[in-house]
Amino acid sequence: DMDRFIDALMKKMTVEEKIGQLNLPVAGEITTGQAKSSDIAAKIKRGEVGGLFNLKGVEKIRDVQKQAVEQSRLGIPLLFGMDVIHGYETMFPIPLGLSCTWDMTAIEESARIAAIEASADGISWTFSPMVDISRDPRWGRVSEGSGEDPFLGAMIAEAMILGYQGKNMQRNDEIMACVKHFALYGAGEGGRDYNTVDMSRQRMFNEYMLPYEAAVEAGVGSVMASFNEVDGVPATANKWLMTDVLRGQWGFNGFVVTDYTGISEMIDHGIGDLQTVSARAINAGVDMDMVSEGFVGTLKKSVQEGKVSMATLNTACRRILEAKYKLGLFDNPYKYCDPKRPARDIFTKAHRDAARRIAAESFVLLKNDDVTLIPGTPAEPLLPFNPKGNIAVIGPLADSRTNMPGTWSVAAVLDRCPSLVEGLKEMTTGKANILYAKGSNLISDASYEERATMFGRSLNRDNRTDQQLLDEALTVANQSDIIIAALGESSEMSGESSSRTDLNIPDVQQNLLKELLKTGKPVVLVLFTGRPLTLTWEQEHVPAILNVWFGGSEAAYAIGDALFGYVNPGGKLTMSFPKNVGQIPLYYAHKNTGRPLAQGKWFEKFRSNYLDVDNEPLYPFGYGLSYTTFSYGDIDLSRSTIDMTGELTAAVMVTNTGTWPGSEVVQLYIRDLVGSTTRPVKELKGFQKIFLEPGQSEIVRFKIAPEMLRYYNYDLQLVAEPGEFEVMIGTNSRDVKSARFTLK
Ligand code: IFM
Repeated sequence: DMDRFIDALMKKMTVEEKIGQLNLPVAGEITTGQAKSSDIAAKIKRGEVGGLFNLKGVEKIRDVQKQAVEQSRLGIPLLFGMDVIHGYETMFPIPLGLSCTWDMTAIEESARIAAIEASADGISWTFSPMVDISRDPRWGRVSEGSGEDPFLGAMIAEAMILGYQGKNMQRNDEIMACVKHFALYGAGEGGRDYNTVDMSRQRMFNEYMLPYEAAVEAGVGSVMASFNEVDGVPATANKWLMTDVLRGQWGFNGFVVTDYTGISEMIDHGIGDLQTVSARAINAGVDMDMVSEGFVGTLKKSVQEGKVSMATLNTACRRILEAKYKLGLFDNPYKYCDPKRPARDIFTKAHRDAARRIAAESFVLLKNDDVTLIPGTPAEPLLPFNPKGNIAVIGPLADSRTNMPGTWSVAAVLDRCPSLVEGLKEMTTGKANILYAKGSNLISDASYEERATMFGRSLNRDNRTDQQLLDEALTVANQSDIIIAALGESSEMSGESSSRTDLNIPDVQQNLLKELLKTGKPVVLVLFTGRPLTLTWEQEHVPAILNVWFGGSEAAYAIGDALFGYVNPGGKLTMSFPKNVGQIPLYYAHKNTGRPLAQGKWFEKFRSNYLDVDNEPLYPFGYGLSYTTFSYGDIDLSRSTIDMTGELTAAVMVTNTGTWPGSEVVQLYIRDLVGSTTRPVKELKGFQKIFLEPGQSEIVRFKIAPEMLRYYNYDLQLVAEPGEFEVMIGTNSRDVKSARFTLK
């Protein structure tokens, strides 16, 4: 049916109209790149536009769709895209935070709600999920991914695509997903955005490709090319990547869109003029040109000159039309344009409740020391505490609405997200006094703060001197019973084009923290961040640290829920937190090297280590505390040998040994002890999130089968190699029990 419909339509199309389908201009209301598009309405009428992105509002989208349907010769409907990354108006935690829930149901639910809201407002296509593995927290876009692990990343990719696309994109609240950025965008040298990537094929396939492949397997409708080069050729012109791997190896049958001006940027990459790079892109397997207008500008000429075949153009055009067909836009171009839906479906109580619950689940308790709050009583963990007395909430992030939802919140109504102070006041009315002081600016350097406050966020810089701000904060602190220090990064200190080389909490804020600690009052650091920071000093000196990432539109309430113990935080890190920037890249699944450091040592001459810091992260992958504690029994393997068709079970008893009900992410790691190529010291191969009442135990079982032991060998064959394996199960990637088995 689809084929016949599209055959008939394409017979009517001119070369120009076919090229038009490949053109994706930017509407310009929302800024996600430097270049702008012009004369869009005229181009739509001429059939020179296949889709439009960054336009918000169902009425506006309906009007533009009407132009395409009623005023262009063939009336082909447009796709309307947007970066719906972690929610639409109801905002969920930034994806890095979301990944720390390790809760696939919650992650899928967040994407489902995002799709319901976006589709209610006219959007048919989201540029999500972003699945770029990254092991470099200097890169600002780690905030937008799921961290350092490909296994977990692949599961999250699947969950999100299911959430966005639903069963088959037939319902009017199911939209098309776009997995990005293909490929290896997270591996830019030095953590600098858009920078050069160079790595072995072994590393690509074993450590970076899995989430993209999982997205294809989950039926993702589109793929976005990355800005970086791969093997010396920009991804956007890399035929091996876009055709051999993506379509040949993985069987992808949707369409590929560039990232923004990815085509014209290849002029700066230095591989040719606009006509050359446009031809290279389409010949490589790229179908849609976002913003560059290299396709509309030059493809006709390239076809005439025989540089691009008509068959190639037809294929690309067909893929765009197929996507529109699959979305049901030919049946009803206004499928997503019901003006009654926004009021009914966007920012609803139910969606906001889900966002609050999921935000609390994303928080990672990094530290929670025992302190004595009332003299003469025994020391107790500082968190949670009862909302009573005077609670001082201090810091540049304490009362900033626009910094709550986090980067990539392009559809959010920023000023509608309560600040932490506002949320806590609402939650403690009649119980406690919330006192507030700003305490410091975000960053001492005003121009740095400005760079880190883009995209419609108010700068909110204080004209008072550092000393005046501090004095006020200390006055407030001294009146309080407990201090919540709301510190860290601003929203736009992470995200696109927000790489950093210093990952400390900015100097003025750290100074504020030191002064607050000197008051002798109990201090809880509520850390806002879009990436792993270097918290070595804080870990040593601050009694309690709750990492809340950027929790979305309901973050303030969710933070209150965690601080007051209405929920028990159970998030676990999905990226290692380094001790200092010099340790980067630092990741748990590293190779052993020929001169590994002995366990427990931190320096030995002629071993792989540093003179000035040990090799361990401050907080390892998978780490996160709880208000309760868990103990792990020894691993019980159902057998010690399996063959290539066999399987075994690894079981471990987990007990809640504390006094709070709580969740625990039980993590399974495996090490291939001898391979034909070198193998990581451990790799995540499974996990289960369980919930236990105080005193309750559960036996957690993992099936281990040979497919889980496969990896890409030197010849890039996916193989499980006979030999000995180590099974590790634990509460994080460092603290594990272990056992061994043999694969025959
Ligand atoms: O989807 C984004 C991408 O992640 C980065 N560049 C701009 C695109 C569209 O806004």
